[in-house]
Amino acid sequence: MAYNYQQLASTNLPAEIEMPPGLREEVEYIFSVTYTDPDAMALKEFAEAAATVIERDGRSLGTYPPPQGHEGLREFISSELSSNRGSDIPVDNIFLASGAGGACQVFVDAFIDPGDVVMMDEFCYHGSLNMFLKKGARPCHVSMDQDGIIPEELEKSIQENIKNGDNPKLIYTISVYHNPTGATINLERRKRIVEISNKYQIPIVENESYADFHIDGPQLPPAMIGLDADGGVMHISAFTKLMGCGLRLGFGAFPEAARESLAKVGFGVSPSHLTSMAVHEYLKDNKSSYVSGVSASLRRKRDAMLRSLGEYFPPSCTWTEPKGGMMIWMGLPEGTNTWDILEKAVEKGVKYNPGPIFKADRSGGNYLRLTFSHHTPEEIEEGIALLAGVFEAEGVI
Ligand SMILES: Cc1ncc(COP(=O)(O)O)c(C=O)c1O
Repeated sequence: MAYNYQQLASTNLPAEIEMPPGLREEVEYIFSVTYTDPDAMALKEFAEAAATVIERDGRSLGTYPPPQGHEGLREFISSELSSNRGSDIPVDNIFLASGAGGACQVFVDAFIDPGDVVMMDEFCYHGSLNMFLKKGARPCHVSMDQDGIIPEELEKSIQENIKNGDNPKLIYTISVYHNPTGATINLERRKRIVEISNKYQIPIVENESYADFHIDGPQLPPAMIGLDADGGVMHISAFTKLMGCGLRLGFGAFPEAARESLAKVGFGVSPSHLTSMAVHEYLKDNKSSYVSGVSASLRRKRDAMLRSLGEYFPPSCTWTEPKGGMMIWMGLPEGTNTWDILEKAVEKGVKYNPGPIFKADRSGGNYLRLTFSHHTPEEIEEGIALLAGVFEAEGVI
């Protein structure tokens, strides 16, 4: 007789989230994932760094790593946060995680109960949004513009929630080269958002996964964790988009007052210590030259996508011109249903992210996200031409 695993299943499983089935299909042109730019990877040098640490420090792999992860890498992160993000964070207030996603899960596990209201960007990276939804949180999306979340709208919405008896638990924002819209919160707004967090005692979780991906335009303002003196900001970032999604290496930074709660969830699933050792060995000597190479490669790819959009899509469509990150946010004529049309695109061999996956109520059907990190400029042009053909055939453009 077969075992009945359905009957045995935990009654505490995460909520199911509906996603467009096409996103799982294999296609030739992938504009739906922020993969590491394969054309900028330094594989030979990374292999040498890995060989060096195994030969030199391999015996340390015989024991378990510290609970918050490889100390050398955390020291490196602390010094990078100080020099690049204007934030002085002690090594002991950083934990390594299995990607930025792993760090986000730690904050969700430590702080979110079913029913909690979470303030978040008007559109929110689906991986994070789904993590909150799976835990039963109630996302409250706040209007954004090209400078990110609008502080006045944030405060108004917090006040409305409080009036209804729902004290929001967290403010979650992707504050640099936002996923999916590309917006970066400017300095003035950062200060205002920190003030609002302090005033209502609602901690901020800022996700800076794209902070290393400046292409051109102004430099980034400092991270909010460095602007706050009251212990109200937690911070997420990663090495995955930079060095390899498959490495599963990210980190969280936190104020001392949050330690006890984070320790209760064990700081999550720690990443491979070997990966941490190798990434540290490589980046400690090469980060700035590697980041410049990635930026130059992404510039070529972004420009190819912008050129192709201009060539194949009509003026009834809009799109952003991002100064960093890996994605372009497109608006199609009102009434377009990008969720359903994805299936047709997949049949033609091209994938994108429909706008509604970035919102809890699944609105935003006339938007879509295109990523440009994975393909060569030539492939990008081929894929965008195909995609335009799909929307043309659907009578949308
Ligand atoms: C804003 C943001 N956070 C987290 C992730 C997950 O990244 P990781 O592979 O580091 O877990 C992504 C990936 O697209 C992202 O865009």
